[in-house]
Amino acid sequence: MTPGENRIQRDSAEARRSTNTTGWIRRIAAALRKALGRFPYRIVHRSRVAAGDLSKYDVMEKGMYDFVPKGTHVHGPKSEFLLIRKNRYRLSLIPGQSKRTDCGVGWITEDNAATSYDQLWGDQTLLSQFHAEGEGVRRKLIEEIADHVAPLIADCARVVDIGCGVGDLLMALRNRRPSIKTFGCDFSEKAVAGAKARLPEGEFVRHVIKDLPYGNQAFDVVLCTDTLEHLEQPALVVEELVRICAAGGIVVIVVPDGDVDDFSGHLWFWGDRALRTFLGPWTSDIKRLPKTKELMAVIRVPSQASCAAEAIR
Ligand SMILES: C[S@@+](CC[C@H](N)C(=O)[O-])C[C@H]1O[C@@H](n2cnc3c(N)ncnc32)[C@H](O)[C@@H]1O
Repeated sequence: MTPGENRIQRDSAEARRSTNTTGWIRRIAAALRKALGRFPYRIVHRSRVAAGDLSKYDVMEKGMYDFVPKGTHVHGPKSEFLLIRKNRYRLSLIPGQSKRTDCGVGWITEDNAATSYDQLWGDQTLLSQFHAEGEGVRRKLIEEIADHVAPLIADCARVVDIGCGVGDLLMALRNRRPSIKTFGCDFSEKAVAGAKARLPEGEFVRHVIKDLPYGNQAFDVVLCTDTLEHLEQPALVVEELVRICAAGGIVVIVVPDGDVDDFSGHLWFWGDRALRTFLGPWTSDIKRLPKTKELMAVIRVPSQASCAAEAIR
């Protein structure tokens, strides 16, 4: 055998070995793909969570809820749990299930449906339970927001509450500033009816929050408390809040602290830093309310005078 023939034989033996190896790798890869295809969520989520931050996930008991991660549909035996990334699923009841209130009355609304809010806002017994829950944290929050906002409101100001519920915050503000004019919108019929009954001189409309049913610069104070985190397109809604606020007016946004919030009805979970990033396009003062620990952002809409000064500079 010549040296050339010898080399050719060596090369083809190596090529055979490498083809065999590639074949094995392919077979292992195919087996893995098959296995992963059968259990995509458990495996994918476990591995991601092992490397990442658990606060970004909700624990879902499989079979307790039907849920729809983007583009997929998964449900399974009750004995298993899944970790699902927040804001990546919707909850809905599956046949034979009923709503749970074992974590509190507020959980009636965890599917974020107007009819569920109707159930809460339209039932005095549930409403009293809701207000009393967590050592009255809902009432404390309303009073705390009102204490912070009332000093920022001028006499006779036009104040609108977006996602007004039964008008708790507007009532608390009117107790502090009796001359204000009150307005509100909410998608729950019972909420709007409740607010109208408590503030008969106010104007309340039923409306699904996305665009807002008001003209440009219609109000001096625009409130949106514990509502933004329920909405699919919060940035568009903030634009709308600012649009309906008069020059020199304020937009007040309050959200639960997303770093500790675990309510599965929420679509967004902003902690202090995340809220600052989200509200970056609008100049706002953000602070933590000392008693209830929720986050409050105040956007000051520039007055005509400061707009003119800005334009000259
Ligand atoms: C957690 S409650 C907050 C109520 C009140 N702002 C407060 O701070 O107590 C959320 C409110 O937003 C309303 N809501 C939720 N999603 C909505 C939507 N897409 N359009 C209109 N209202 C909505 C609910 O009916 C409910 O009154």
